[in-house]
Amino acid sequence: MLLHTIKEVQEQVKQWKKEGLSVGLVPTMGALHNGHLSLIKKSVEMCDRTVVSVFVNPIQFCPGEDLDKYPRTLEQDTKLCEQANVDIVFAPTPAQMYGENQMRTNDFLTYVIPPFFYVNKLCGKSRIGHFDGVCTVVNKLFNIVQPDFAFFGEKDAQQLAIIKKMVKDLNIPVEIISCPIVREESGLALSSRNKYLSQEDKIHALALSKILNNIKSCYKKGITNTSALKETAYGFLNEHHELEYLEFTDNTTLEPVESATDNTRVFIACKVGGVRLIDNIFLG
Ligand code: PAF
Repeated sequence: MLLHTIKEVQEQVKQWKKEGLSVGLVPTMGALHNGHLSLIKKSVEMCDRTVVSVFVNPIQFCPGEDLDKYPRTLEQDTKLCEQANVDIVFAPTPAQMYGENQMRTNDFLTYVIPPFFYVNKLCGKSRIGHFDGVCTVVNKLFNIVQPDFAFFGEKDAQQLAIIKKMVKDLNIPVEIISCPIVREESGLALSSRNKYLSQEDKIHALALSKILNNIKSCYKKGITNTSALKETAYGFLNEHHELEYLEFTDNTTLEPVESATDNTRVFIACKVGGVRLIDNIFLG
């Protein structure tokens, strides 16, 4: 069932709750791929009812980012959701989510701001305000859908850590379920932004997963010094890559680490053919 208004979703969820049914939420920005479908599959398995939100959230895009050209494929997304036994596809307009007036200027919107310590690194460094927009919309979706479980991919591991922190700090009654990164056979992590890559870019994009896999195998062989591990990346990079960061942090707190452990996650962001790609790997 495709619904566009908050009221319709709330009414349906209220009915389910009355019947004692559990509800899973998979928040997405659409352009669904197998990564999203793995989250949806998990929700359908675990919960009596599943809601997938499809909303390209304008307030999480920074000036100069790809808000206007972000792929919008609602018809195809709805079909995929139907095939996956999703109960509701919730596809609101920006005005439905934020009101006509609030969209004119963000100054009139109440935001949920995650701690500086979690956003002053990795993607937060270059995407100023991005995680404020993510936390605000996810919090709104939680309030609208009131899910028992919400499903997020480890591909956006900083986002996942920040959402877990928000849920804990604000006592939001939802259990966050994290799901592993889904990759193409080549190793490339699935992302809606892969649509922007040419065939040649796709080959250069493999450097990200190769760097991460190589770091993990060096760590498993006993190298723990993160500077030494970082050095190993340069052999995979050339003029086609614009490395933004390669960082080692604690998996839960995102605290940078100098010596890698089994609780370290390695994060990479790199532009290929002008497309900003991210990936990460857990060393444990
Ligand atoms: O990961 C995403 O696609 C988005 O950041 C999310 C969680 C759907 C919020 O808009």
